[in-house]
Amino acid sequence: MAYQKGDLIYEGKAKRLYAVKGEPDLVWQEFKDSLTAFNAQKKGAFENKGSVNRDITSLVFRFLSERGVGSHWVADVGDREQVTRRLAMLKVEVVVRNTLAGSTAKKFNLAEGTPLEVPLTEFYYKDDALNDPFISDEQALMLKVAPTREDLDELKRTALDVNRGLIEFFGAVGLDLIDFKIEFGRDSSGGPGGGRIMLADEITPDSCRLWDRVTREKMDKDRFRRDLGGVKESYEKVRAMLHEAWGSKV
Ligand code: TMP
Ligand code: ASP
Repeated sequence: MAYQKGDLIYEGKAKRLYAVKGEPDLVWQEFKDSLTAFNAQKKGAFENKGSVNRDITSLVFRFLSERGVGSHWVADVGDREQVTRRLAMLKVEVVVRNTLAGSTAKKFNLAEGTPLEVPLTEFYYKDDALNDPFISDEQALMLKVAPTREDLDELKRTALDVNRGLIEFFGAVGLDLIDFKIEFGRDSSGGPGGGRIMLADEITPDSCRLWDRVTREKMDKDRFRRDLGGVKESYEKVRAMLHEAWGSKV
């Protein structure tokens, strides 16, 4: 099936979304070479980043789908694009943490790298103007990011299923999954607000913390956030290792 790119719908920090001609239920997602941090106060880019992240996110979504976690992924097109289902996005970012790092380590003044006995799931309100603040379950209901407590429970359950899958997926290439952020949308089945909740957006070194299991070297966007150098090399290494391990299996 040859998909055709339609009009630009939306441009975000790391992706552009286009219509797919004649396919109102699909979206054409293009991964840009740009890299931002701290709500786009810090900006950068590297050549081929879009293609690297497209390849990684496609592999991840195909892997998760084989383990029963459906996503918006439909097909890859070109070298930095993919066709996805069109979803109504929920205004929430769901973060899962296996090891303390980043904002939660800072918040409680605890050492980065402290393993957690039980994974933490957290909700953040997706609103750049407010700097995506942390929200409690009750605040999530108040803000109507999902209509019911059951929906919130489903988001957490799915996030933990994703966590189990990703630990295996990255673990196979010697990477420890420290934490990650995912986003969800609803498809159009069952009318407005009533569709199935599905995994969307991307799962890449932009949205995960990945540490080398042996050396503890960071292999993700923290290299850019913290000016550690070797950003492009790390992303490319992650893609190469994942391709080698999973390319022929999913
Ligand atoms: P945090 O420790 O800064 O809260 O980040 C937790 C995880 O979420 C980490 O893997 C990076 C990812 N993340 C995003 O994908 N987008 C964001 O805007 C932020 C703040 C974090
Ligand atoms: N995603 C956010 C940004 O692009 C923040 C981050 O990942 O650090 O600015």
